[in-house]
Amino acid sequence: MKFFVANWKMNHAFDETDEWLDVFFRNFLYNSRNLKDKEIVVCPPVFLLDYFDTELMEDSLKYFEILVKETGKPADEFTPQELNEVLLRDRPIHLGAQDCHHEESGSFTGDVSANMLTKVGCEYVILGHCERRSCHGESNEIVAKKLAIAAKNNLNPILCIGENKEVRDANNHLNFVREQLLHSIPRDVNFERLVIAYEPIWSIGTGVVPTLAQIEEMVNFIRKVVHEFFNDKIDHFFVLYGGSVNSKNSAEILTVENVDGFLIGKASLDPIEFLKICDINPKI
Ligand code: PGA
Repeated sequence: MKFFVANWKMNHAFDETDEWLDVFFRNFLYNSRNLKDKEIVVCPPVFLLDYFDTELMEDSLKYFEILVKETGKPADEFTPQELNEVLLRDRPIHLGAQDCHHEESGSFTGDVSANMLTKVGCEYVILGHCERRSCHGESNEIVAKKLAIAAKNNLNPILCIGENKEVRDANNHLNFVREQLLHSIPRDVNFERLVIAYEPIWSIGTGVVPTLAQIEEMVNFIRKVVHEFFNDKIDHFFVLYGGSVNSKNSAEILTVENVDGFLIGKASLDPIEFLKICDINPKI
């Protein structure tokens, strides 16, 4: 399975969401078989989560109608469980948040809890993004607490790690990432699904992309460290690449063995560009 995670950051509102979903679904309905074995996750700003979830449900109903046609089975013969599977579990876009607080609840003005995210339909949450680490001073230890609370609330964490340019230039990137892994993943928690996004800070939003050899080295290193220290705690484990991914470089990066997909910032704001990265040729 390949992951395509759209991180909208602090961009887009209602109109853009309508437009994005409209373009996505028009092309998706046309190409729906092409999405098999692809896990598409969209992480809009927190105020849009509920709206996105509702819109998604309506668009998924259209998808259901297509399935009905394909199977030849009348719509009223679908059991509630089958209907639920299409509309919830098998819906073509999964919802993710960009962060959550590390406590269950309490006096944390402006913050959002993992449980609240679950209630608005989130299945994933990005944690430890470098913009959170640098702008909000999030340490590995705080990130580890966030992973624990996310797992407790049935959210799949997408843990972001990656070195800055100085660390890379000093050839210390493997040590740095190893430390991030060892301190950002809690030891005493079981994860049904853990996604790790390797995002070198020098690549995020810069247009500079590591070489395929650099990506391969790091992705394999991350797998090795996780297998060594956390193997028995994680049922399903995926490693993504993030940093200046676009429709021109995505196919090549995906040829790197062991890259399970992408975390995409800027390029995910444009639905056509995002669909191309997902290898769905937009027709409309
Ligand atoms: P970018 O951002 O694709 O715009 O480089 C990636 C990210 O920050 O997750």
